[in-house]
Amino acid sequence: MSSKLEKDVAWESSILGIFYKQLFVHPKPILSTIQLSGQTAIITGANSGLGFEAARQLLHLGLSHLIMAVRSKIKGEAAASKLRSEFPSTKIEVSIVNLSDYDSITEFAKRCRDLEHIDFAILNAALQNSKFEKNDNTGHESVFQTNYLSTTLLVLLLSSIMKEKKHRHGTREPPVLTVVGSDTMYLSKFEASGPVFPRMDNPAPYAKIKQYMDSKLLLMMFVAQLADEISPEDIIINVSNPGLTAGTSLGKDDEKPGFMERYIVPIFIHALGRSTQVGASNYIHALVEEGRESHGSFVSDWAIKPYPALMYKKEGRNMIERLWQETTEELKSIGVDTLFQR
Ligand SMILES: NC(=O)c1ccc[n+]([C@@H]2O[C@H](COP(=O)([O-])OP(=O)(O)OC[C@H]3O[C@@H](n4cnc5c(N)ncnc54)[C@H](OP(=O)(O)O)[C@@H]3O)[C@@H](O)[C@H]2O)c1
Repeated sequence: MSSKLEKDVAWESSILGIFYKQLFVHPKPILSTIQLSGQTAIITGANSGLGFEAARQLLHLGLSHLIMAVRSKIKGEAAASKLRSEFPSTKIEVSIVNLSDYDSITEFAKRCRDLEHIDFAILNAALQNSKFEKNDNTGHESVFQTNYLSTTLLVLLLSSIMKEKKHRHGTREPPVLTVVGSDTMYLSKFEASGPVFPRMDNPAPYAKIKQYMDSKLLLMMFVAQLADEISPEDIIINVSNPGLTAGTSLGKDDEKPGFMERYIVPIFIHALGRSTQVGASNYIHALVEEGRESHGSFVSDWAIKPYPALMYKKEGRNMIERLWQETTEELKSIGVDTLFQR
């Protein structure tokens, strides 16, 4: 469990440690006994990059029903048709969810209620944004909105549905929900003191990578706290990290990239980045290999890893409480309040 791994933080969160893992730690093969026939999985952002590759890997393990939760019907259907031709006997559906819009998330969750059971969920959709932008619907900064606020809403809605369905069916093994994080959270310098939301919504100073790392740190804090409220016998929730991965669309939003973005960053990613196959195999590992031990933990490089140093400190724990309160208030303001009373 991440909570017991404070001793490893210094190495795991060092730049050298991160580079070492990227270059020298390799995927653990999935146990040959793991077979997912009869099981259903939801993947957000499944139309491209790591989400698409994770879908393919679950289908290779014999998954029977896949829901590709995407914001664009056209992109989703194009991706689904590739998978349908590779896996013709599997039920592959496209379902719309736009993480910029709370209504779209609650509508999506309503549709999920109609599924007979949900065994796995990978909340993979996220973004980086070169410019500060506000979400028109909520007024929050758009990366904070997508990567943290909307993802936490979906975590809460889906986990409650998955838990309920598990009990209705009397399934012995708990369902697993993994939220995709990033080891860049280790590099976040987010100050523990003071309210969290106003700082995430602050246009100055805004920096693309900083906002992204901070959003992933908050996500880890939220999942760790949520896991304390939920039994892993009902549902296992963890955070998984693909590691730096080449060939995806992440961070490529800038229409006029500067010298660094155009020349240096691609060389860096090419030299250190994993393939999508290797990156996505971390998600699958977090879903099917780590079990109850991974509840509330960070799963990276095919193993359970420590939290960022801040989370072991008193000021970090106080920040988690504040974050929880601010998140509760935000979600109550859109009518989602009962989910916190478990
Ligand atoms: N690539 C890396 O090096 C790396 C490293 C660590 C962690 N990660 C994490 O891995 C996950 C996948 O990233 P990726 O590299 O595969 O990037 P990607 O190719 O850009 O995929 C991101 C996915 O998220 C979707 N998405 C973005 N905003 C959305 C919204 N508002 N509503 C619904 N869907 C939305 C995108 O949909 P559209 O196609 O419609 O835009 C796309 O399907 C992310 O959580 C990322 O933070 C990536």
